[in-house]
Amino acid sequence: MAKRPRIAVVGSANVDLTTFSDQFPKPGETIFGQRFDLGFGGKGANQAVAARLCGADVFMVARVGDDLFGPCSIRNFEQLGIDATHVRQVPGVSSGVAPIFVDPSGQNRIIVVKGANDQLQPADVDAAADILKSADCIVLQFEIPLETVYYTIKFAQQNGIRCILNPAPAQALDIDAVADLDYFVPNESEAEAISGIPVRNLDDAGRCAAKLLASGIRRVIITLGANGSLLAGSEGMEHVPAFDVKSVDSTGAGDAFIGSFATFLGEGLPEQEAVRRANLYAGLSTMGMGTQKSFYDRARFDLEWARRKG
Ligand code: RIB
Repeated sequence: MAKRPRIAVVGSANVDLTTFSDQFPKPGETIFGQRFDLGFGGKGANQAVAARLCGADVFMVARVGDDLFGPCSIRNFEQLGIDATHVRQVPGVSSGVAPIFVDPSGQNRIIVVKGANDQLQPADVDAAADILKSADCIVLQFEIPLETVYYTIKFAQQNGIRCILNPAPAQALDIDAVADLDYFVPNESEAEAISGIPVRNLDDAGRCAAKLLASGIRRVIITLGANGSLLAGSEGMEHVPAFDVKSVDSTGAGDAFIGSFATFLGEGLPEQEAVRRANLYAGLSTMGMGTQKSFYDRARFDLEWARRKG
């Protein structure tokens, strides 16, 4: 039986308001959309849920708002069996929310209003230090203050804990502060924004990964949607192809990748196999609408893996 990994996520929790529409309004125009979905999201929370559904013990360190959504988000973590001891409500501040627009191809456009996520401080990391020290892996994203991200990376390094950073949404960063991470995992647009190299195909992704490695980052995985992932380190690069899926909504697929990858790696699987499985887990998540609600649990995933692994 595989080892049950202990994964801590220091990150965001949002509520997603997703509109499915075959067109987008011009300035001043009102149009009808086809469908609406309200659900729990936020890159941190999504990655925590994916890891939990894949079978890890998961601890969330986050801030939610003083509104209807705050207590519901905490309850969502608890109902899924995620330890929410260190998810705190901030008085007088709204929860993080994300209006999301999905087109008929399943592609999304997201606006995040960070709300309480922006109040997650290094002091919250200190308050959760005991739980964090018990983790095999700490997972981070960029929907909380960068100061807290860098502080947590240092904390992970000082305590010898594996650390995975998903630099999403992309923003200007201090490369030195992220250089010694175990895994730096952007998607194409984040990789492009950070490296300055447009990523339109696998060759571009290779050039981009090479630049990130040359800047001092130790290990990079660029997720490429329907093209799978590119895994890059000092020993070279490897393209890990995606699986065929019929995608209706790609929202949260990157988060599904990160949470499942952290779990598969924590179970002791070889890195390449962990990436391959995470490619499938992310792909499957695009077959359903919504974010967390489209993630597979481990039993369903294992059936698909057995059927498709070849
Ligand atoms: O990665 C998808 C997530 O991005 C959504 O759940 C939304 O909340 C934004 O954080």
